[in-house]
Amino acid sequence: MAGLGLAAGLGGSGLSLLTGCSDGKVSGSATGATFPPPDPSSPWWMQGVFAPVKQEVVAHDLPIRGALPPELSGWFMRNGSNPTNGDSEHWFLGDGMVHAVRLENGRATTYQNRWVDTPIHRAGGGLMSAGPPGGPVGQSNVSVVAHGGRFYSLGEIGWPYLIDPETLSTRPTDFDGALTTYFTAHPRPDPITGELHAFGYGLVAPYLTYHVVSPTGALTYSSEIDLGRPIMMHDFAITDRDAIFWDLPVVFDMSAVSQGALKAFKWRPETGARIGVMPLGGPTSAIRWVEVDPCFVYHCSNAHREGDEVVVDVCRLPSAMTDTYDDRPSRIERWRINTAGPELTLSAETLSDMRMDLPSIDRRWSGRQNRFGWFANAVDDGPGGAVQLPGITRLDTTTGETDSWLPGAWLAAGEGVFAPAGTGEGEGYIVAFVTDRRTMASSLAILDAMDMRAGPVAWIDLPQRVPVGFHGAWMADA
Ligand SMILES: [Fe+2]
Repeated sequence: MAGLGLAAGLGGSGLSLLTGCSDGKVSGSATGATFPPPDPSSPWWMQGVFAPVKQEVVAHDLPIRGALPPELSGWFMRNGSNPTNGDSEHWFLGDGMVHAVRLENGRATTYQNRWVDTPIHRAGGGLMSAGPPGGPVGQSNVSVVAHGGRFYSLGEIGWPYLIDPETLSTRPTDFDGALTTYFTAHPRPDPITGELHAFGYGLVAPYLTYHVVSPTGALTYSSEIDLGRPIMMHDFAITDRDAIFWDLPVVFDMSAVSQGALKAFKWRPETGARIGVMPLGGPTSAIRWVEVDPCFVYHCSNAHREGDEVVVDVCRLPSAMTDTYDDRPSRIERWRINTAGPELTLSAETLSDMRMDLPSIDRRWSGRQNRFGWFANAVDDGPGGAVQLPGITRLDTTTGETDSWLPGAWLAAGEGVFAPAGTGEGEGYIVAFVTDRRTMASSLAILDAMDMRAGPVAWIDLPQRVPVGFHGAWMADA
């Protein structure tokens, strides 16, 4: 199974995640959505705004509508699934392709896209590739991150790939031999120490490894956590004192691999669910667990300490990877884990009923008490349909108030990434690729992060369509 490259973390049976319309807050009618149904002759992820592009393109001096904030100088990069051979078993399983836009002093100087140079891509695409666990396997299609002056493409399983921002050429890295297991796509920065905290999960033992990367990019700590079973764990959380993991019942069944790579993950709520809290930086042997009602969480927004309590904001699904497509919706939930006594205790509350996922925060507040999260709104077309991402919403976690940009039926948005421009939390912009379903033209939209309703302050028109993908990052110039 070393070659499995499981991607991004949208949704249960792969399509679903989020849904919905039943609360009337974000719905087809609210957005005026009258999406044409996907052509049943091919998978939805091969069609329309999801369809892969065939060309690697470089373009300069991109046209701008509106006023591009001159204080944004750096790269916006985003990863996604783009099957090399024009087909993939699942939306999550296409080859990684990074799309990048360079902003500089009010100009959009460059757009470029390029496949991540994985063995799978070199072989022409497909699911499996040779290589031992921890090797340069997987599609590297989930996310990108900047750390220690380097840029990385990250996948669900496998090694990171270093990205040259000027060319988007990539090469795998094992941190000079220090990485002997996997490294997943959702590392967490500690803004005070400058360290990057991460983990890797495996389909064969070791099932979970915790990593720490130094401010200069050296892997300084890597230690196993005994889970006892292979599960899907897409994200984790940190506070300034803790690392938090969720051992949730999407269990990998090796005997079911012949059914398909993702179908080997089974929803097994009877096996229990638990959340682990350990000291940030280790040792992993000090992890303590508390049971939680079975659920699934792909993504966490942020976590922080409040005295004896670890507070974790997550996008919670009631289930995932079920056979019956009842995995939705995802809601924003807050876990409070009290660590004072000999046994951890847990309480949970819903922060928002709006169906949302793909969280972004002002990462200067990573692991600290933050107020705002930005999320992709999500509506799906039901079984067999594609997840739709009709807008981006800012959630005030202190009041539950929301501030949404819902651009309309024909505009497909995606994850909105926070780009700081100022010193206070939320002072900055939300950056997101969007595509017009009528023309299939894509733009980079830039919104005032504290005034989402107002819509973009600038649009950068791109020379080709950017397929709806997974996770991006704003990488400001040093
Ligand atoms: Fe993700």
